[in-house]
Amino acid sequence: MRRFVLLGHKAPITPEFTLNDLPGGAGRLDLLCRGIGAAFFLSHDLRRDVETVILLQDQVQIRFIGNKLKRLNPDERSTAALIKHALEKLGEEEVQSTPGIFIAPRTLPMVLDRLYQEGAHPIVLHEEGIPIDPFSIPTNPVFFLSDHQEFSPSDEETLASLPRLSLGKRALHTSQCITIVHYLLDRRDDDTQADLVLCHKVWGEPKALLIKGLLEDCGLPANLVMHVPPSILPINVDGLSEVRIMVHERDLPRARDIITDYFEQPAEE
Ligand SMILES: C[S@@+](CC[C@H](N)C(=O)[O-])C[C@H]1O[C@@H](n2cnc3c(N)ncnc32)[C@H](O)[C@@H]1O
Repeated sequence: MRRFVLLGHKAPITPEFTLNDLPGGAGRLDLLCRGIGAAFFLSHDLRRDVETVILLQDQVQIRFIGNKLKRLNPDERSTAALIKHALEKLGEEEVQSTPGIFIAPRTLPMVLDRLYQEGAHPIVLHEEGIPIDPFSIPTNPVFFLSDHQEFSPSDEETLASLPRLSLGKRALHTSQCITIVHYLLDRRDDDTQADLVLCHKVWGEPKALLIKGLLEDCGLPANLVMHVPPSILPINVDGLSEVRIMVHERDLPRARDIITDYFEQPAEE
């Protein structure tokens, strides 16, 4: 799952705004709507494994959940209309205003707490961060971005201990940053599926997961593949299936050294 949190410092927290003036009267709500579009839309399709949160004036959280979303369209005005409708439903507890859109009163520390509880790995996107390396982005990342304004002093305080990554020295639009992050992670994920070679075989998923975790702790991405030999059942007599640990060819010698050091001789192909 990829997540984005967009901090809207001037966007309205009540529904009394006109859809005819999103950049002005609605405090750059157009920019947040473009960010939502960039987070979810493919050409004629929607990214279902994405969650996007907009946090308005550090008071109101609206969550968009990709695998539940309905009625989201690519134009900013209709997205703003969904936000306006959500604001009409705002109460004490989180409520679903339209399918896949949830609204609740929340502050940035509360948003961050929930994301930690869900196992997400927060990252701040900032021009002055460390240059981004897609291969070092952890699984389940959540990217924090500001709107047309800098992060506020109180945002900075809450986000101070998080890694801060840069997409270059130029200040980009929030939606452009999201598109670039998707591009980098899509390429990484495609690359992760390609050029993988067998590193090791084990019986049973728990041990395979242990080795995968060990390799990833050392910065080597690994995939697990349940192997079903032709005309043989996937389950052996002890009820354990064979799991193949796949790594990039370039990582193979190091991965085998790591496994040898910690466990046993890696299996030859
Ligand atoms: C329009 S920028 C914010 C305003 C900008 N700092 C300025 O005053 O010109 C919107 C947000 O996108 C992200 N962003 C913009 N450019 C970036 C870059 N080069 N690298 C990483 N994040 C960036 C940051 O989260 C930033 O707060």
